[in-house]
Amino acid sequence: MNNISEIKKHLAEHWSAFESLLSSTLDSQSDMLNRINRYLFDTSGKQIRPLLAFVSAMAGSGVINEQTVACATASELIHTASLLHDDVVDNSEQRRGNKTVSKLFSPGASILIGDFWLTRALALLLEKQCPNEVLRCYAGTLEELAEGEMMQMDFADSLTTAEKDYLNIIRRKTGSLFVASVRCAAIVSGAASEIVNALTEYAHLVGISFQIRDDIIDYYPSSQTGKDSGCDIEERKITMPLLCAMESDPSQAEFIRSQMGKIVPLAQSQEQQAQNKILIEQIKEFVYKNNGLESAKVRLGEILSQAKESLDSLSDSYYKDALLKIADSLLLS
Ligand code: FPP
Ligand code: MG
Repeated sequence: MNNISEIKKHLAEHWSAFESLLSSTLDSQSDMLNRINRYLFDTSGKQIRPLLAFVSAMAGSGVINEQTVACATASELIHTASLLHDDVVDNSEQRRGNKTVSKLFSPGASILIGDFWLTRALALLLEKQCPNEVLRCYAGTLEELAEGEMMQMDFADSLTTAEKDYLNIIRRKTGSLFVASVRCAAIVSGAASEIVNALTEYAHLVGISFQIRDDIIDYYPSSQTGKDSGCDIEERKITMPLLCAMESDPSQAEFIRSQMGKIVPLAQSQEQQAQNKILIEQIKEFVYKNNGLESAKVRLGEILSQAKESLDSLSDSYYKDALLKIADSLLLS
């Protein structure tokens, strides 16, 4: 994702405005909160949502104003808040190769800091007097984030996930924040409504691609990624590679679903952990044997092509090209 640092550089003072607003927005009266915030800054990710917000605003209207910076910042705040909550839900040890706040401090601290980041996001949108349409869009996203996670939990119980259910879950848990980031930035920057809609479609498709990519990489051996492998299977999540493999060999689909049903999430005893390991390996083998990874990559490529096509109505510019490059950077070969 080399393009990403190049685009950030190109955004110059707009990107710096985002970085300083993010930091000043989080200033707190609590020493512990400030300490954990510093840890979160030091271990932050690629900040793709604020990047998309700025690039979309520039591609759609050529304008970045104070409200655009507020939308970009709110998106990053909400994203981090959702991960602080997610690491508690998933009982995760690590995020981006670092200990999670939940493990380093406590699950309670992780939830409360998430709440703090979330509240600051909403306060920021209000303080900068963002229009009601923008507030409604972010409120809808928060609902979809929580609902998407709950649907994921339902399906981890029933294990009946079909592709339409999977797409519905990832549209909510991941796509919705990409949409809010891009749509709201385009609205406050004054883009015309048909351009806002084209960018919204792009954001939706790039958002679900982002999650499908993550779900494919979860099947890669840890020697290749430096991350644990098979975490989704352990959490009983039926994602795109497994759906593709089951489509390729439907005769084994019910058996594989029943094997997944034997996995004990958050297993405590050594015996249960050993049993989980065997089941995870069996499911991974099924995916590899039935070309689940290759088929999922093809699906990813198709969705990213659609994402790029949705920008056809935008005039050519450095920033439209950047949106196309960001979509391409999500492809897996
Ligand atoms: C990471 O996905 C998690 C999400 C995309 C969303 C998490 C959302 C919540 C926990 C709801 C939070 C609600 C509010 C209102 C803030 P993943 O678990 O598939 O991937 P990862 O853990 O491997 O990054
Ligand atoms: Mg997770």
